[in-house]
Amino acid sequence: MADDTLDPGLEHVIAAETRLSHIDGEAGELVVAGYPLAELAGHATFEETVFLLRNDRLPTESELDALRDDLRAHRDVPEVTRELLREAAERGNGAMDAVRMGAASASLVRETDDPERDALLAVAQFPTIVGTYWRYRQGEDPLAPREDLGHAANYLYLLTGEVPDEARVRGLETYLNTVCDHGLNASTFAARAIVSTETDVLSAVTGAVGALKGPLHGGAPGPVLDMLREVHESGDAVTWVREALSSGQRLMGFGHRVYEVRDPRAAVLSTAAERLFEDRPDADLFETARETERVAVDLLEEHKPGRQLETNVEFYTAVLLCGVGVPQELFTATFGVARVAGWTAHCLEQLANNRIVRPRSRYVGERGRTWAALEAR
Ligand code: ACO
Repeated sequence: MADDTLDPGLEHVIAAETRLSHIDGEAGELVVAGYPLAELAGHATFEETVFLLRNDRLPTESELDALRDDLRAHRDVPEVTRELLREAAERGNGAMDAVRMGAASASLVRETDDPERDALLAVAQFPTIVGTYWRYRQGEDPLAPREDLGHAANYLYLLTGEVPDEARVRGLETYLNTVCDHGLNASTFAARAIVSTETDVLSAVTGAVGALKGPLHGGAPGPVLDMLREVHESGDAVTWVREALSSGQRLMGFGHRVYEVRDPRAAVLSTAAERLFEDRPDADLFETARETERVAVDLLEEHKPGRQLETNVEFYTAVLLCGVGVPQELFTATFGVARVAGWTAHCLEQLANNRIVRPRSRYVGERGRTWAALEAR
């Protein structure tokens, strides 16, 4: 098959078959390994989701116990990683730079590059990498992972030094499940393309972190939180949103390349945020979000009639992550803590039926040039 159609963003290209997730942008549906998102996200622990992505079915109790043990046994990061993270924190590098270096450094000390083990190592170590960086950034020593805590609870503990309550753990777990995988997005495609060379999985994960770091991919929830704080301070969502739109700003947390209706992840995260903030003294953040969403969707329709600019995943991500206690500077890194489950599952899926990813380019340069000696140029 040789098709010469140019498709710079590859939107119309199907470059892989996957059993991991499926997006229906018109219907606003996301299926994760056969489960509608809302069915999975509210029920599963993150460990169950990791197993599901790797095995295409839910684990039995003993399989789940075995995976939990395996993840716990691999949480610690080596000294070389800690040193890199300390250096990154002291120099003021951002969290995603630190995570990229942390992910890459894991390969310096492991004995083999078995893809399954590398996949497990990456999922297990990401919370420790982010937590270690964050503690150094706060001028504190990193904490050792807690054997008695599950993946989500341990992550919050490594950030805050406190064992989180059940509501926060459930909120974070819902977030991690909700964003664990999402079709062939840019970072996942990057991971699959890298591993298709049959290099090691940690190299693919490192490349994927680099892709996720870009502001067009993983960067919107921080600005959403800034927007909600401003709206709250102004006390008047209608005026704030109108002014933002008339000054040409894009409203963060609205619009999506694939979804033409409300992003199904926004529905799951908004329900989780509502439950989390119920009866809390800071519940006004959730109330501001709900009011801002209502106003923004109406005014976006007025502003761009027929464009269907609806709420995307980042809007309630900001509210939920803030509510569970993740610092704003770590929103994108926390996205990575979740998405590494998808990246690594995609790597294993790619390797199981591999063909090196090698698209073509259209040459638009000159031809037939003749060499000019240096002194003649
Ligand atoms: N606020 C105001 N206007 C908007 C918004 C928005 N959030 N989103 C799109 N528009 C306008 C655009 O200005 C454009 O108008 P124009 O045709 O007059 O130029 C029109 O709606 C269509 O926009 P596109 O840029 O074609 O939409 P696209 O599909 O390329 O972009 C994107 C999608 C990047 C998400 C965009 O909606 C946006 O910038 N949203 C705000 C940032 C954001 O929330 N990003 C996170 C997305 S979720 C994720 O990727 C994980």
